[in-house]
Amino acid sequence: MALSAKDHNLPTVRSLLKSQTPNVQEPSTLRTPLHIAILACEGQSAELNGATNGASVSHANGAVVDELSLPVLTKAEKTITLLLQNGAIWNSLDVNNETPGCIAYRLGLTSLYEVMVDAGVRAELLFGRLDGYMTLGDGDSEDENDDEDEEMGESGVEIVEELVVDEGKLEDGEEAPQLVAERTALEKAEEEAIPVTSEEYLNSKLEIDDERILDEDKNGVMMSWETEIMSRTVNLLLPSTESSTPGPKVLNIGYGMGIVDSFFQSRNPSSHHIIEAHPQVIEKLENSPIASKQGVVIHKGRWQDILPGLVEDGTITFDAIYFDTFAEDYDQLKLFFMEYVIALLEPTGKFGFFNGLGADRQIAYDVYKKVVEMDLLEAGLDTEWHEVKVDSKKMEGEGEWKGVRRKYWDLERYWLPISNFMG
Ligand SMILES: C[S@@+](CC[C@H](N)C(=O)[O-])C[C@H]1O[C@@H](n2cnc3c(N)ncnc32)[C@H](O)[C@@H]1O
Repeated sequence: MALSAKDHNLPTVRSLLKSQTPNVQEPSTLRTPLHIAILACEGQSAELNGATNGASVSHANGAVVDELSLPVLTKAEKTITLLLQNGAIWNSLDVNNETPGCIAYRLGLTSLYEVMVDAGVRAELLFGRLDGYMTLGDGDSEDENDDEDEEMGESGVEIVEELVVDEGKLEDGEEAPQLVAERTALEKAEEEAIPVTSEEYLNSKLEIDDERILDEDKNGVMMSWETEIMSRTVNLLLPSTESSTPGPKVLNIGYGMGIVDSFFQSRNPSSHHIIEAHPQVIEKLENSPIASKQGVVIHKGRWQDILPGLVEDGTITFDAIYFDTFAEDYDQLKLFFMEYVIALLEPTGKFGFFNGLGADRQIAYDVYKKVVEMDLLEAGLDTEWHEVKVDSKKMEGEGEWKGVRRKYWDLERYWLPISNFMG
């Protein structure tokens, strides 16, 4: 299977799929046929393939003729589509901690990358399980694969010994030292990615300074590099042309470092509700200048416990609602906009949230962006996305992540969502 996938030999792959799983992995590299089919396109480009792209596909009586003479990228796209249609797992990891889509992205193979993103969206919608803000294909991958394995019966990931090992010939049972090191790196990445639960976080002792908030396990809760994002968010939620008297009514979930609340304050809100659950952050909020500002209402506790009362009370709606919590799964964000944004947002109001879903891996980020947009639509909310450049390399150079357990952000571009009711 691996060799046929590498050659994009469609007839052979099709025939092998009748008796084999598409999720075999090379024992040493952990690459699946999807990884291999994509890797084999290294050096290919749309231009190289463009002239004849698809041109030689001819159909006679419904049969595809001469598949082997198609341009490489076309053949590759057909091969990975075929593998996916036959149950190939879209986000399995190789020893380099890369999914097939990560490889397509790294090699600049845009058309193949898009196929992998769409496969991810389909899988996530099917399994309805965006399990965390921070992980996809990392700590969560076992779970994700578990689900997909269930769907596929016994034919989940299978490691076969017959495959060619790129790294050279080794004696039976012997492992190349670099592979041992790579595995260790993968294991380390997986271990670091185990997400903290909301309960653990809310009970943990925080380290708070002017630059960041870390939890007990040194997970980054909030960092000052997000200031630009918070500022742009408030500008888009409350466009200055709409500044009026009385000032806007705003609701923010998650005070953190108070950055977004300071920007909200600069718009002289007539009403500014803040919900915060962590005792240390509440203390910081109560001692901040914001606490004594007119119109500020501090709700101490989890939004899940506070909002039902606010909705039942029925006396207030908001022009802008922002949501940015920590250690909560995607299902909580979804619950928030399905239940509470609908109930609490003014008909002309705007809703935003910190879009950090899957932000340690480009393909996860792109998949989540599409899935969340579809869920927002289901809630009756249209979403515009605004691009904010993030200089990840500079952050790295300046040691921004020093002392932080794992980078929760590793991308060059933040997609800032602003939603409003359709129509
Ligand atoms: C990322 S920080 C928010 C940062 C904020 N946007 C800013 O500009 O500084 C997340 C905050 O949400 C709070 N939080 C986490 N879970 C919560 C919950 N269920 N209800 C209310 N607040 C919560 C955390 O304690 C933390 O202060």
